[in-house]
Amino acid sequence: MDCNGVEDTKERVCVTGAGGFIGSWLVKLLLIKGYSVNAAVRNPDDEKYEHLRKLEGAKERLVLVKADILHYESLLSAIYGCQGVFHMACLLTDDPKQVIEPAVKGTENVLEACAEMGVKRVVLTSSIGAVYMNPNRNPDALVHDDCWSDLDYCIQTKNWYCYAKTVAEKEAWEYAKERNLDLVVVNPSLVLGPLLQSAMNASTAHIMKYLTGSAKTYANLTQAYVDVRDVAKAHILVYETPSASGRYLCAETNLHRGDLVDMLAKMFPHYPLPTKCSDEKNPRKKAYKFSNQKLKNLGLSFTPIKSSLADTVISLQEKGFLH
Ligand SMILES: NC(=O)c1ccc[n+]([C@@H]2O[C@H](COP(=O)([O-])OP(=O)(O)OC[C@H]3O[C@@H](n4cnc5c(N)ncnc54)[C@H](OP(=O)(O)O)[C@@H]3O)[C@@H](O)[C@H]2O)c1
Repeated sequence: MDCNGVEDTKERVCVTGAGGFIGSWLVKLLLIKGYSVNAAVRNPDDEKYEHLRKLEGAKERLVLVKADILHYESLLSAIYGCQGVFHMACLLTDDPKQVIEPAVKGTENVLEACAEMGVKRVVLTSSIGAVYMNPNRNPDALVHDDCWSDLDYCIQTKNWYCYAKTVAEKEAWEYAKERNLDLVVVNPSLVLGPLLQSAMNASTAHIMKYLTGSAKTYANLTQAYVDVRDVAKAHILVYETPSASGRYLCAETNLHRGDLVDMLAKMFPHYPLPTKCSDEKNPRKKAYKFSNQKLKNLGLSFTPIKSSLADTVISLQEKGFLH
């Protein structure tokens, strides 16, 4: 380790979606750990990736490479020389046209390029959306990594993001088996925490609507949350642990929206947070429980949601999204 806390230089790895919310944190932590990083982005000249160039170690060990996950050839040059690939590029949207093809075809392209280039290990960012969307799941049972979302249910409920992530992950496992590719998957829940990038991202927008007062009520729903720094650490842990295998549920806690807005109101009372549920008829939805033990066994200690929420709001204030 040098005097700046940077560990000894390690191998080169590639991160797709490197300029996004989670991708930026992953690149930051990889550089701190001494990795050389190929940050795959669609347009390396775009100013929105300036934050990557300013990261510690970026001058020496970061290269921004142009790649679109829908263009196979571009991936070959992005992955060239890399021993590991973290595939996280995907849009968080329920627009089927924008999410299904990039998630499914994009993942297929990345895995094919990894197999072609002899990549040592691929870490795929899936989602808890590929895990819990199943109407027949016992709501009291612990959700484990062997649970899969039901595709018919995703279609019926028009949850195209969960549909796309489920199909993409299932196909990734099949492809990895066929090609003998070493694949490990991280399934994060909704991700919060400080932003490195300058633009708003979809999961942060989830709490923005409460803080700005644009949501006058909260829904009778629950949601599992995790801190972005823990998600980035989880990716590195599963990459670096030779025995890591299968899926890793990456979630700290599951909260009802009412508990989420209460927590925010207690810490930040000056924001116009909603106090009423939009559903006054039905009983309050119970939060399902899931197991994050596999990541804890690898040594990850999860940031409590309360401090993650506080850091998210402070970051939004610092970036000028909130006053
Ligand atoms: N945030 C969450 O709550 C959450 C939870 C569970 C799982 N995940 C998964 O985590 C991953 C990253 O999410 P995030 O929150 O960091 O999202 P994000 O901030 O929206 O970043 C997504 C990135 O994907 C890139 N991308 C999209 N389509 C692409 C394409 N065709 N070719 C190349 N790059 C493309 C985008 O690049 P541009 O800069 O070019 O637009 C963007 O940088 C995704 O796979 C997502 O499904 C996220």
